[in-house]
Amino acid sequence: MSTLRFPQGFRWGTATSSFQIEGGADERGDSIWDEFCRVPGAIVDGSDGRVAVDHYHRYPQDVELMASMGLDTYRFSVSWPRVLNPDGSVNRAGMGFYDALVDALCAAGIRPWLTLYHWDLPAWLPGGWTNRATADAFADYALRVHDALGDRVRVWTTLNEPWCASFLSYAGGHHAPGHTDPAEAYAAAHHLLLGHGLAVKALRAADPGATLGLTLNFTPAYPADPDSAADVDVVRRVDGTAHRIFTDPVFRGEYPADVIADAGAAWPSGLVHDGDLELIGAPIDVLGVNYYTSQLFRAGQHSSQPTPHPAAPDAVAVDRPELPRTDMGWEVTPDAFRDLLVGLHRDYTGPAGIPLAITENGAAIDDPDPASGPIEDTERIDYLVGHLSAVHEAIEAGAQIDTYLVWSLIDNFEWAFGYTKRFGLVAVDEALNRVPKASAGWYSELVRTGTLTLPERA
Ligand code: FCB
Repeated sequence: MSTLRFPQGFRWGTATSSFQIEGGADERGDSIWDEFCRVPGAIVDGSDGRVAVDHYHRYPQDVELMASMGLDTYRFSVSWPRVLNPDGSVNRAGMGFYDALVDALCAAGIRPWLTLYHWDLPAWLPGGWTNRATADAFADYALRVHDALGDRVRVWTTLNEPWCASFLSYAGGHHAPGHTDPAEAYAAAHHLLLGHGLAVKALRAADPGATLGLTLNFTPAYPADPDSAADVDVVRRVDGTAHRIFTDPVFRGEYPADVIADAGAAWPSGLVHDGDLELIGAPIDVLGVNYYTSQLFRAGQHSSQPTPHPAAPDAVAVDRPELPRTDMGWEVTPDAFRDLLVGLHRDYTGPAGIPLAITENGAAIDDPDPASGPIEDTERIDYLVGHLSAVHEAIEAGAQIDTYLVWSLIDNFEWAFGYTKRFGLVAVDEALNRVPKASAGWYSELVRTGTLTLPERA
């Protein structure tokens, strides 16, 4: 039996987000996701986040679960419309919830890792992320949260997956607010990055010792036929708006010229003001990587359907039927994860002298109902073993990676898929009781030993 040992001091944990788990909706303001859930047909099962898994009321139990698993780190997000009122004042009860959560984590010896924005934007901000003023509002909000929690929270992520909050939400129409306008998506992407830059500046001034970063999602794109110039070009354009539009301003202080050229008339004139890129490109201390899958594309007919890849309306996703898939339909491709991490270290974080942290990785599996007995989620364990091997290979190849967080601690509201997809190490029954799956026990053992056991290969 072969084993892989992770470096001494490597940090292990799980991740969640506010809207997906908290519920407690009567005790906060509306977010754009509350509004989106009310749009008929927007959520496949017609569900919403009003109760979710009721973490708002059951957080002590969830912290206890993590402590019993021996987890080192918990990445959670703060709900902006819970902690601030529409007039900008602090909602004391809402902030008090996070205060108590952070206290409970610290008491359990779990490092709190706070994400400021995981998509639940207050519904009352006019124009959402298409409005430059939202970036300023975000920096104010960041400081308010820091005032309350900064004495105990030492790791801060500004944004979770700005690609989803811009292109998937304002061009693809799949996420709140469900718009399908490429110009809005480019504006949202820039204003999200500007919000990140303004928040980093404000937090840095308030707390020079804090660890600050942002989390990007990466779905490496490959040409179906590497010898086809058209396929290669489609992949360049997908990669431009999915990844490089975020990595390059953050690490190099500039938007890639090809991305702006490909956007053409959809790039709003006057979008980028003097000084924006200096703010966005200010040093960060860690890059969070969320990884689930990779994708093959070929160049096809130009489609006029809404797409989250507005520079590539001719991109056609090509299936690889030989690969296993998760319940999301996502192909399982751990080698692409390893190559991604090595490439990010080489091109971005290595030169910046900062580590990578895996802030999300995990699998939706169609688990049986918890009422029918213990959940033996071996497919999820296999997925995690494969992807942790990839992380280990990347470390061996020289990539600096110091943290791995499973998405997710617990089954939850999976955005437009409602409660139909299960990513948790822990299931939730009808009565909202927590029921650990086999993967929770497996992960706990890995965390305890820092050693991954690989299955025998035939
Ligand atoms: C990521 C999100 C997270 C969850 C997982 C499955 O894109 O950050 O909230 O939905 O995907």
